[in-house]
Amino acid sequence: MEDRGKSLSHRLDRVYGATDVGDLEAAYDTWAESYDSDVNQLGHLIRTVSTGYIGRYIPPDSKVLDAGAGTGLIGSYLKPMGYHDLTAIDLSSEMLKHAEARNCYHATYRMVLGEALDFGTDSFDHCYAVGVFTEGHAPASAFEELIRVIRPGGYFVFSIRDDVYREGGYRLRMDRLEQQGSWKVIDQSPVFQPYPEAHPDVRSRVFVYQVI
Ligand SMILES: C[S@@+](CC[C@H](N)C(=O)[O-])C[C@H]1O[C@@H](n2cnc3c(N)ncnc32)[C@H](O)[C@@H]1O
Repeated sequence: MEDRGKSLSHRLDRVYGATDVGDLEAAYDTWAESYDSDVNQLGHLIRTVSTGYIGRYIPPDSKVLDAGAGTGLIGSYLKPMGYHDLTAIDLSSEMLKHAEARNCYHATYRMVLGEALDFGTDSFDHCYAVGVFTEGHAPASAFEELIRVIRPGGYFVFSIRDDVYREGGYRLRMDRLEQQGSWKVIDQSPVFQPYPEAHPDVRSRVFVYQVI
């Protein structure tokens, strides 16, 4: 158990310390095999709360983008709830192989949030991103492209680490997009501890925006 704890902490240091997209991709590619069992040590509260918000706003019979799907854990929650048109994107092909193997996704593609997405405008009814807006992962500049690929009226549910939200330029960008009339905030969770036992110091939020 101690070795597993060290392995998890090494993996977390590696992904949070990634220096660029290639480095982050390599870190997740090498983590993919043991990711699901490793994150059991962190607990799944972040996914449970996020899935609650997804279920509150996104109907199962809609076309939904899972942005930063990883190994597809959220897809595995949503499929038994009747969601049958999920598309996964992630920068790590190895993580996506595990997502594909779950048979929860209509399609999976390697794409990088923060770069142009290879989807047409208004391609999706709704979108969610869990555990992706955090230190060294998807930049705040990714919001514009996600807004472009979600149809007007569609919901975007995402978690965000609270320190990153407040100090990493995300809040400014999110507010500016609202002032510009690109989206409006519909709901937000209170600040909560996503990993209350493993990392009681970390805080997160879940936001729900509606694209205009
Ligand atoms: C902490 S994992 C969360 C995975 C999944 N959403 C879940 O809840 O289990 C973060 C995922 O985001 C992906 N990711 C990080 N930055 C990204 C970016 N800029 N573009 C696309 N995917 C990214 C990683 O490859 C990884 O699979």
